[in-house]
Amino acid sequence: MTDLFEPLSIHAITLRNRIGVSPMCMYSYSDGFSNDWQVTHLGARAAGGAGLVIAEATAVEPRGRITAHDVGIWSDAHIDGHRRVTRVIKASGAVAGIQIAHAGRKAGSRRPWESPKPVGQEESHGWQGLGPSPIAFSQDYAVPHEMSVQEIKEVQNAFCAAAQRALAAGFEWLELHAAHGYLIHSFYSPLSNQRTDEYGGSFENRIRFLLETIRAIRPVWPEQLPLTVRISGTDWQEGGWTVDESVRLARHLKTEGVDLIDCSSGGGVAQARIPFGPGYQLPISEAIRSGAEILTAAVGLITLPAQADEIIRQGQADLVLLGRELLRDPYWPLHAAQVLKQPAPIPPQYLRAF
Ligand SMILES: Cc1cc2nc3c(=O)[nH]c(=O)nc-3n(C[C@H](O)[C@H](O)[C@H](O)COP(=O)(O)O)c2cc1C
Repeated sequence: MTDLFEPLSIHAITLRNRIGVSPMCMYSYSDGFSNDWQVTHLGARAAGGAGLVIAEATAVEPRGRITAHDVGIWSDAHIDGHRRVTRVIKASGAVAGIQIAHAGRKAGSRRPWESPKPVGQEESHGWQGLGPSPIAFSQDYAVPHEMSVQEIKEVQNAFCAAAQRALAAGFEWLELHAAHGYLIHSFYSPLSNQRTDEYGGSFENRIRFLLETIRAIRPVWPEQLPLTVRISGTDWQEGGWTVDESVRLARHLKTEGVDLIDCSSGGGVAQARIPFGPGYQLPISEAIRSGAEILTAAVGLITLPAQADEIIRQGQADLVLLGRELLRDPYWPLHAAQVLKQPAPIPPQYLRAF
């Protein structure tokens, strides 16, 4: 039976275990450049024993940042900084992943520790969010610009260029951010997409933006490296995107050459009632894994070693991603290995402590 500490191979890449660092924005950068904080933050978690370390939502164009402090990959000048990150992660035996992202209509927010409210019109210097339709995320947000077909193609090209830069920087795992109410999710959710052209209306039309983006990326991202997508498996809202639609979407993504679906949820509806609790998003992963016969990552309030191990043993997911628990304890994988009596990837320099 497969367990948490069994390696996971996808094409030419092998994770030493099935524990990944979920992408987490640090909002600590200027002009999108990676810096010492990101190297320290991600490097510590690689040394902590994770098999996969996914760098946070990384903007494919400046207006696609959630905040003005996001990290980015919209220019070749960003590559060197990202290369430092991948080098440090790999030196500790983990695989370096990156999530490429566009914030869509949720762009122009403030850092969460500053204010939950977005930047006001007068401060935004003309930075307007983008969306499929002119529908604001909430009353605090500005109405986004409704994208033309030409603008859709431009953003898809930006995702493609970002993937090329990620490869040049040494990332070996690419995750497309299609969750949490950001641009791509806002296209496939009927709550934010009310278009009447080929990008709106039917299920096939709403997922078109995502499928075309994958088609733009696939030729530049090598077949031997994992290509993955994070989706919001449900909007948790009447009339919104559903788990059944996620299963259908995952089948399409598999056909397009996607290797794994990272199963998150929500973020598209400000007032959604989400049933937070241990492993609350696991049913989404299970449904997609069995319904689309594709590898999945589970995420969301996975905090205990036995819980994570059971998810893999029961076949609810192929990989577990931890967010906040790995912020609290970068050495969680080493501690989990001890608890589960598995060989731990302890750095030799730390052996006397474990
Ligand atoms: C500080 C912080 C930043 C986050 N940034 C991102 C992000 O950049 N991309 C993303 O897809 N999810 C992001 N998330 C969501 C996490 O990746 C994860 O899905 C969520 O926290 C649930 O997992 P957890 O219960 O293990 O924390 C963030 C979460 C936190 C706490």
